[in-house]
Amino acid sequence: MAKKDLDPNYNDPNYEPVVNESGNLPFASVLANRMERRALMKGSVGAVLLGVMGGAGLSVAGEGHRGNGHPSNHSRAHLNSRLGFAAVGVSTLNQVVVPEGYSARAFVPWGTPLTGTLPEFFDDGSNSGADQEQQVGMHHDGVHFFPIDLKNGGNSSSEGLLVMNHEYINQNALHPAGATTFADGSRPDDEVRKEVAAHGVSVIHIRQDAVGNWSVVHGSTYNRRVTGGTEMDIRGPARGFGKLVTRFSPDATTTRGTLNNCAMGPTPWGTYLAAEENWHGYFANGDPVRPKEHVRHGVGSASRYDWEKAAGGADEFVRFNASASGASASDDYRNEPNTFGFMVEIDPFNPAARPQKRTALGRFGHEGVIFAPVEEGKPVVCYSGDDSRFEYIYKFVSAKPYHAATADGSLLDEGTLYVARFNDDGTGVWLPLSLDDDGFVAKMNAAVAAGRVGDIAFDAPFSSQADVLVNTRLAADIAGATPMDRPEWGAVDPASGKVYFTLTNNSRRSPDDTNAANPQGPNPNGHIIYWREQGNKHASSRFVWDIFVFAGESGTETVVDGKSVVTLDDSNLFNSPDGLWFDYNGRLWIQTDGSDAPPYQNNMMLAADPRTRDIRRFFVGPVGCEVTGVVTTPDCRTMFVNIQHPRGNWPDANVDRPRDATVIVTRDDGGVIGG
Ligand code: FEO
Ligand code: CA
Ligand code: CA
Repeated sequence: MAKKDLDPNYNDPNYEPVVNESGNLPFASVLANRMERRALMKGSVGAVLLGVMGGAGLSVAGEGHRGNGHPSNHSRAHLNSRLGFAAVGVSTLNQVVVPEGYSARAFVPWGTPLTGTLPEFFDDGSNSGADQEQQVGMHHDGVHFFPIDLKNGGNSSSEGLLVMNHEYINQNALHPAGATTFADGSRPDDEVRKEVAAHGVSVIHIRQDAVGNWSVVHGSTYNRRVTGGTEMDIRGPARGFGKLVTRFSPDATTTRGTLNNCAMGPTPWGTYLAAEENWHGYFANGDPVRPKEHVRHGVGSASRYDWEKAAGGADEFVRFNASASGASASDDYRNEPNTFGFMVEIDPFNPAARPQKRTALGRFGHEGVIFAPVEEGKPVVCYSGDDSRFEYIYKFVSAKPYHAATADGSLLDEGTLYVARFNDDGTGVWLPLSLDDDGFVAKMNAAVAAGRVGDIAFDAPFSSQADVLVNTRLAADIAGATPMDRPEWGAVDPASGKVYFTLTNNSRRSPDDTNAANPQGPNPNGHIIYWREQGNKHASSRFVWDIFVFAGESGTETVVDGKSVVTLDDSNLFNSPDGLWFDYNGRLWIQTDGSDAPPYQNNMMLAADPRTRDIRRFFVGPVGCEVTGVVTTPDCRTMFVNIQHPRGNWPDANVDRPRDATVIVTRDDGGVIGG
């Protein structure tokens, strides 16, 4: 999510607050090891020292149909990640730009009728809250295509379930004349209802006709909206934990809604995990002293949209007031924010299944999640970044082994959550956040003795593993994780098994608190880091890492062992990498969320060959947007790209308000996208 000027809330300095005051800035160790560095960045921003990683010797051959749209079916053989298109230039046009020989068209924009009575979209913003609950939400983000025959072992590329997140809203576009606030500060109930409903997730059954056009299968029972108000279950260690007790759920087993869903991850068993990223901003806690479970995440005294001030005082909206107003936690919503910050599992093939909040994966500003390819009889491994300045990258390793015949989301309820430490010498360690780990317990006890973690009072040990997980950020501070430059999406190379993560930027990092993995202070343009787990085993506790590419203007070089491996020019300069996805042929797609300023202009998507680091701009979005969310059909011949918070009247010149939308990209000759 970027702070744009479309919505006054974007300019809120607390939107993605710096809330890590832990002092986890291992500068001394950086200095000690700098002589060992062998890679650097050159260019207009000067030279900085980087990490190093041995070559992996990728074997690349073949082309064509790969996988069936979920992680268990990536093959490591016969992939062709070469780029076969001519790069497009930067653009300031209020339209999508794709290479010659490709076509793009908008699909399923905000407000598309989806369920129930299929309410028509009114282009003056006058649809009701009830309408919005039956229409596609706003601010499209992470997206995945599930082949309709996936559960039967198929990989249809002509029919499937397109599942996507709706991260947040543009109140000015959502309502006829923007948000309404009454003189007493309250807000109209139906505006709040509509805003809650424009968030969440859409499951959209789509089908391609004989001439290749995609449309929504209206009336399909798969079509579904999950919103900021949908009832869901708490699963994993935090289920039943006292700090999740609310008036709605005195036994701490359920909650309502998922919010600020940025990226996502398809699971190896064919479900969808939606990430809860900047959820803190939806709550208001006016108490003079706020608990660490709020403070460490930036929950403040005012909420972004004032939902807690809905005029009718309905419980479903009052819950966004997280002050301790009642006699106990079961009388109010002081703990409501503690039921957010999780990965939420949705089964798109079972519309009756309640979403499940998987607390074992930790509670933080989840950008998304990426699963490593699964192996029969081995643990399930997935990675997730916490997108705030100076936050961390995490890995979950399941306690139980994966078995394809029986695998389901319960595998995500037991396991170990680790956080990454990137050493200056190019090695890395996964630090367990577990009360079963003596090293972690010793550090926790030391923090108790000190009475604080950074600026946050810490005068008692975590009471349980649930307490550790609800306080994941604090636990990671204690463990000694490496503070990163805003970790966004991750991706696992199906050919090499290497894990890539975007570090979008960090305006607040000073030259004095750089570390080897985040070597620029400030870091205005971001970079992409990657690592290889020891022994190529994703459950390993150690890894080696390096920087794949530095973003920046023309002339920015990424140098390894004295040799330039990437020099950006007009064909591939970019900034603020955010979305990241490996397609089924092993091409890496990089999406941006920067400003619209020169030389970058409108946000874009590039493709990279991970083997050669050939990077080419493939797609430029319309004015003001963020390009976020990408997936193809299994045959790689239809690509879905999401456009979030466009400006003006994109995509429909006849409608006087912007509509977030998916863009369908195809090759005019029917070929593989990017090839
Ligand atoms: Fe929602 Fe970190 O972008
Ligand atoms: Ca993002
Ligand atoms: Ca972003």
